[in-house]
Amino acid sequence: MIKQAIIPLAGLGTRMLPLTSVIPKELMPINGKPNLEYILEECLSAGVKEFIFIISKKKMGIKKYFFNDKFYKKVIKKNKDQRIIDEYNKIKKYQKKIRFVYQNKPKGTGDAILKCKKLIKNKYFLLLLPDDLIIKKNCSSEMIKLHKKIKGSVIATKKVEKKNISRWGILSIKNKKKNYFQIKDVVEKPKIKNAPSNYAIIGRYILPSDIFSEIKKLKPGQGGEIHITDAIKNLIHKNYKFYGNIFKGKYLDCGTLDGYINSGAEITKGIK
Ligand code: G1P
Repeated sequence: MIKQAIIPLAGLGTRMLPLTSVIPKELMPINGKPNLEYILEECLSAGVKEFIFIISKKKMGIKKYFFNDKFYKKVIKKNKDQRIIDEYNKIKKYQKKIRFVYQNKPKGTGDAILKCKKLIKNKYFLLLLPDDLIIKKNCSSEMIKLHKKIKGSVIATKKVEKKNISRWGILSIKNKKKNYFQIKDVVEKPKIKNAPSNYAIIGRYILPSDIFSEIKKLKPGQGGEIHITDAIKNLIHKNYKFYGNIFKGKYLDCGTLDGYINSGAEITKGIK
């Protein structure tokens, strides 16, 4: 059962400056709703019951967004606007499901995830990187379905253009079926000539709790950071089963300013 989702939110968002000097990138609105809420909605409809948010002292705005009761109560008392009451009720539903952990130094996704070790209760959990939005089809639901079928870990993947390969974690594949394959190996942001395929990791993972002990053993990799990709690689080499789920939905990259602008346009287009 996949009941818990880890969402790393401690990143500085430098690719989105100057906006991120005052707004956490995950709260930037896309068609009137923070990026992060799209991720939460995807998780809820996939059956997730608890969210673990990894934030930092610099990202306290995220905590405030979900835990600003005093403010809402005051506004609602004065002004019984149904829209505001509905919004507050929605936020209160999220409150019950959110736990916070802190990563105050940006030492990579692996390091961030390790901070959640004590909170993870089951053998598998979901990890979502909020820069990556997947719309039109629920990617987490598809992955959970595949996880039940193959009884192993799952990573969301899609084919990317060769020229952009060095921006992604890239999968080496075997036993390819129509919508999934087994992962033979993985390499973080390879040079084009070293890439084993053009199937890239997109920010959704179903990972085993054994990954925590693997992360602990890691030395800093690319860019001096602890990468989740390296822990996954080591588990695969120990014969843990990992599968790539070639997801059906549309991928939107919200981690850069151009991508963010395009995501807004795509989502608005889909709604109209
Ligand atoms: C991270 C992962 C990378 C993956 C990407 C998906 O990179 O390390 O393997 O392909 O997310 O968005 P980042 O975007 O943090 O550089």
